[in-house]
Amino acid sequence: MGFLALAAKRHSVRKFQWRPVPQAAIDKILLAGKAAPTAHNNQPQKIIVIRSQKGLETFRKCTECHYNAPLAFIICYDKEKCWIRPYDGKSSGDIDASIVATHMMMEAAELGIGSTWIMYFIPEAVKVEFALPGNMEPVAILVMGYPDESPSPQHFDRRDLEDYVSYQ
Ligand SMILES: Cc1cc2nc3c(=O)[nH]c(=O)nc-3n(C[C@H](O)[C@H](O)[C@H](O)COP(=O)(O)O)c2cc1C
Repeated sequence: MGFLALAAKRHSVRKFQWRPVPQAAIDKILLAGKAAPTAHNNQPQKIIVIRSQKGLETFRKCTECHYNAPLAFIICYDKEKCWIRPYDGKSSGDIDASIVATHMMMEAAELGIGSTWIMYFIPEAVKVEFALPGNMEPVAILVMGYPDESPSPQHFDRRDLEDYVSYQ
């Protein structure tokens, strides 16, 4: 499948089959994240893979949006490793972590593994439950598993290009 077709096909999945995602697939998803570009190639990302029953139980305390997924990734960045734009002090951390997460989400889609990007989590709960050091900032959680539902209507609701693209 070409990339454009895959991007159009990928949709958020909030209902999952019980069967676990094999380690070989987890490895590929992580490698896709590894290939992501980061500002100044600083690679400030840190990823927690949650796949054990105990880990999943802990994870469920951090968000209502766990959707009982059999697998989750917490994508963080290290505040001390980000690139900082000198003109205004803007940090690349959120952007770097988001590109890594997007690569992972797309690789999962290619493998037939559904995912949803979760921002609705309690940052403090993630920091405490997973003992993140003070320099580690969680940006996104990807819940994943084999889909047990079709795309929601939201997936097909996209603004027209003319609405937000301009040429100069
Ligand atoms: C930055 C970001 C944050 C999101 N946070 C959540 C979330 O906390 N819970 C949730 O169920 N979906 C969340 N989503 C999924 C979006 O609701 C979803 O991508 C959007 O409705 C389009 O649907 P689609 O992914 O099926 O195309 C998030 C997506 C993004 C990109």
